[in-house]
Amino acid sequence: MLRWRILGQTGRGHECVGRTISSALIAEHMAGETLLNAHALRKHGNDAIFSWFARYQKARDSGIDAVNATVGSLLEEDGSLATNSAVVESVRNCPPVEFSAYAPLRGLPRFLDLSKSLALGDARQSLENAGISIGSIATPGGSGALYLTAANLVERGHSVLLRDRHWAPYDGFLSGSDLSIETWPLLPSGDSQYPYFDLTSFEEKISSLKMKQDKIMIWLNDPAHNPTGLSLTAEGRIALLDSMITSALADPEIGHTLVIDAAYSLYADDAYGWADSIVEVFDNGSPWPENLLLCFAVSFSKSHTIYGMRNGVLISLHPEQEVIDRLQNVFGVTGRSTWSAAPRIGQYCLTDLHSSPEQGAAWATECERLKKILDNRRITLLANCEAEGVILNPAHDGFFAWFECDQPEIVAEHCAKQDVFVVPLEGGIRIGLCSMPLTGCERVAKALASAPR
Ligand SMILES: Cc1ncc(COP(=O)(O)O)c(C=O)c1O
Repeated sequence: MLRWRILGQTGRGHECVGRTISSALIAEHMAGETLLNAHALRKHGNDAIFSWFARYQKARDSGIDAVNATVGSLLEEDGSLATNSAVVESVRNCPPVEFSAYAPLRGLPRFLDLSKSLALGDARQSLENAGISIGSIATPGGSGALYLTAANLVERGHSVLLRDRHWAPYDGFLSGSDLSIETWPLLPSGDSQYPYFDLTSFEEKISSLKMKQDKIMIWLNDPAHNPTGLSLTAEGRIALLDSMITSALADPEIGHTLVIDAAYSLYADDAYGWADSIVEVFDNGSPWPENLLLCFAVSFSKSHTIYGMRNGVLISLHPEQEVIDRLQNVFGVTGRSTWSAAPRIGQYCLTDLHSSPEQGAAWATECERLKKILDNRRITLLANCEAEGVILNPAHDGFFAWFECDQPEIVAEHCAKQDVFVVPLEGGIRIGLCSMPLTGCERVAKALASAPR
């Protein structure tokens, strides 16, 4: 049934601006049809994560002792949002003007400098010593950084290469920029030199994309992959880099961009593994082709527990400063015409926090405490699943674990009947280690063990 509004009155009826809609069902299907453009009409409803979280909340609010393994934020054992106290302290001490002022369009210079160290660790120095230019631009979260690459580094209508299991919002970011998706398998199917990287399929996909496109881009969420918790080994990272270098050298007219989505890296054992591997590859004598760009989409949402403050950066690495300058310019213009400047307060607070050795150490201690919470839950879940005969995907780091299955909705419904709430996604079930208490591990394992296969 359509809602109408005439001269301040609201009501319901089938009459609408000179047109009668006979069926409420049709009206519902066509809602907004005359207002939304063709692209918007293809955007669909509730994100699975939020709808399954809502089901958990409903169960909890009706007094049920339910397990919440749905949301992607780190919760303490009592279900409250985990916050890094050093960051909270820094925000509390922030001068009023830092709340109110705009940030410079590309970000506060000291923050941009800090962000390079937070993204690259000690490898930053080695890269700079080797003459690699490093750009950083402030973005609204890691999402903003991903958006900048989608908007600028491949042509409209091109495909971006992802692994088949990936963070679902990638699909929306890409289709919003008029891009399609090609995938390669998360794990190799047979024997492979690299247990967590399917090099053969990766190279096949790169070759086929190169037949159709003059720019290729890969988005790789590693380490601590969302939704599985997988992290590549150093050998896997180096194989991937070598493969991209070989491909870029073979086709110098084709732009090659690798975007490391590092959203969870500071909760991984090998937090700076990618930067270290980049240094290793080029220290070992590989050339850096002019048509190869390496980027890090950095999010401070999780590492500093400031999800809502929307802070991130896009880091770009290239041997030529002129290329970095040009990219920074393009990214700045894109940001200006999309979200204006990125939020200032987090940039100020993080700079302040990390410029004091005491506060920086307090942040690191808290970060370690939060990482331990995740590690304990992961170890316990893996042990419980093994005891129940449930085979989970390899899970090494970060916020999630993954149960691969053909009918995720049915499995999630089955778990919900045991008051265990997980998220069914394409190809499997995401288990939010970040949101469930340690005591939930056994219940998750038992619910999965009894689920229909
Ligand atoms: C895989 C992945 N990438 C990027 C992000 C971006 O996070 P944000 O925009 O909050 O910094 C997230 C957030 O959940 C994520 O899971």
